[in-house]
Amino acid sequence: MLGVVEPGQLRGRPWVELWSSAHRQEVAEALATARDGKVGRVVGPGPKLDGAPVWWDIIVSPVLDASGKPERLVATARDVTEQRRQAEFEQQLIGIVSHDLRNPLSAMLYGATLMAESLSPDSPLADVVQRIVRSGERAARLIRDLLDFTQVRASGRLPIDPQPVEIHEVCRQVVDEMALNHPDRVIVHQPEGDGEGRWDPDRLAQAVGNLVRNALSYGLAGTPVTVRSVGRGARVRVLVHNDGPPIPPESISSLFQPFRRGEQRLDRERSIGLGLFIVREIVDAHGGGVTVQSAAGEGTTFHIDLPRRP
Ligand SMILES: Nc1ncnc2c1ncn2[C@@H]1O[C@H](COP(=O)(O)OP(=O)(O)OP(=O)(O)O)[C@@H](O)[C@H]1O
Ligand SMILES: [Mg+2]
Repeated sequence: MLGVVEPGQLRGRPWVELWSSAHRQEVAEALATARDGKVGRVVGPGPKLDGAPVWWDIIVSPVLDASGKPERLVATARDVTEQRRQAEFEQQLIGIVSHDLRNPLSAMLYGATLMAESLSPDSPLADVVQRIVRSGERAARLIRDLLDFTQVRASGRLPIDPQPVEIHEVCRQVVDEMALNHPDRVIVHQPEGDGEGRWDPDRLAQAVGNLVRNALSYGLAGTPVTVRSVGRGARVRVLVHNDGPPIPPESISSLFQPFRRGEQRLDRERSIGLGLFIVREIVDAHGGGVTVQSAAGEGTTFHIDLPRRP
């Protein structure tokens, strides 16, 4: 609430004037929108009659008369100061951590990759350097996930850059890279049909990579992971399958929410629970959908379904 308005307190003083000059334009526009018969909205630092500065989320709605013309305007004001302070703090913290970690980490990864390439495989250090590279890549992925998450929080979506792409090629590259990093596992790629379309190749690779990494982590060790990319008609699908214990039906509905993770990870690596959230954001940004089927004896299959053009 703006505070209790005593009779006469606002008399002769338009509501707009209570706002700082930086926001008067927006307030005037919200009022004009409502006078036009639509719902106006303004979010910003504004007045409270007792003087304390407050961050408001105000919705101005018209009350229409019998002929459908606005007769009065009603404003509902919500004090969002605390949410805003919290959101700003979160954004700053994640921004600083991610950006300031990213550069030194890239330098370390670059150096370690050079060393890995120049060391002979039977050098006693080869193993150590390999481990540095793998840990560095994991940390870099985590930072990327956190940055993507903050981006979705801040702007409501992940930006994509669609271009002509072959879905089979994207899947093949992801499978090759995963196979290289998991020499003890079998990862199969089965392309079918026409894979041409317009998508963001890096983002698609990120989504498929997240699903394959999950299939390797949560699927039964010793069983293969299968990636099928299927182009048919106006749509393509990517199916990532693993065997192993099914996902409990009660957790399926919350699986794609951020920071949701289950208990049954087999390799004891700590996870943060952003993988599937990001998969869904990427697929949504392309105008597609992602679903999961999981049952005892049948394993788990994630389906990505995409239109050929976003
Ligand atoms: N193929 C799968 N089989 C069984 N459970 C799965 C599978 N994929 C995901 N899950 C469950 O869903 C949870 C959420 O997955 P998600 O990828 O979002 O997060 P995460 O793997 O825990 O962490 P991150 O991907 O951020 O490292 C997992 O913790 C796991 O319990
Ligand atoms: Mg994951």
